[in-house]
Amino acid sequence: MAFEEVTNYINEVRRDFAQKELNESAVNANPFEQLGNWIEEAINAQILDPYAMVISTANADGKPSSRVVYLRGIYTEGLVFYTNYNSQKGKELIENPQIALNFFWGEVERQVRIEGKVEMYSTEGSDKYFDARPRESKIGAWASSQSEEIASKEELTKRFEEFQQKFDGKEVPRPPHWGGFLVKPTYFEFWQGRPSRLHDRIFYQKTESNWKLGRLMP
Ligand SMILES: Cc1cc2nc3c(=O)[nH]c(=O)nc-3n(C[C@H](O)[C@H](O)[C@H](O)COP(=O)(O)O)c2cc1C
Repeated sequence: MAFEEVTNYINEVRRDFAQKELNESAVNANPFEQLGNWIEEAINAQILDPYAMVISTANADGKPSSRVVYLRGIYTEGLVFYTNYNSQKGKELIENPQIALNFFWGEVERQVRIEGKVEMYSTEGSDKYFDARPRESKIGAWASSQSEEIASKEELTKRFEEFQQKFDGKEVPRPPHWGGFLVKPTYFEFWQGRPSRLHDRIFYQKTESNWKLGRLMP
């Protein structure tokens, strides 16, 4: 399709949202519980990768960047994902801990937006998760200096094979540059698509002792 055809197509498609609604009386007072409920419903709806989320980071100058990662833990103290601490996102989060998360589940007409700050996740927690990964993924974590340029694909395969040899017959330890970030949210927004673009948007703003719940215009 030429650009013009693509543009025409995406301008003509009109989707009305009507499956569900979101009301103050029905949401959980705790946004973590509410997120857990929605993830469970996304899993039940058989959405592909319902725990995949876009995370946005910014460097010290405020220049933003986004990418998808997997949410791997939802706890009362925060949300956890794993990555390479020397990657672009890793470096940015270490110099500027502000983060925004976004889940989009089109099949159930939902979006969740989360804002907060990250902390390094505990080494015990990262070890536990790393130990449970398949051996190839563990070796991959050693072989990839994530986000650095590499001359060729063959070079990456070579690095992988070198680490395979290095750890032959041994347990693969967690690389010091690989682990979790714990996101400590201060804001959640749950979005449910509604007819006539009158979508439901319920937010939770963290206060000293609790969460303030409110509604935004669509
Ligand atoms: C569905 C999906 C899940 C992903 N999960 C992760 C993840 O959990 N951790 C991770 O570091 N990268 C993950 N990635 C790769 C990232 O999107 C990204 O390419 C990589 O982390 C490098 O990002 P950066 O250069 O901005 O640091 C995932 C990509 C996709 C499409």
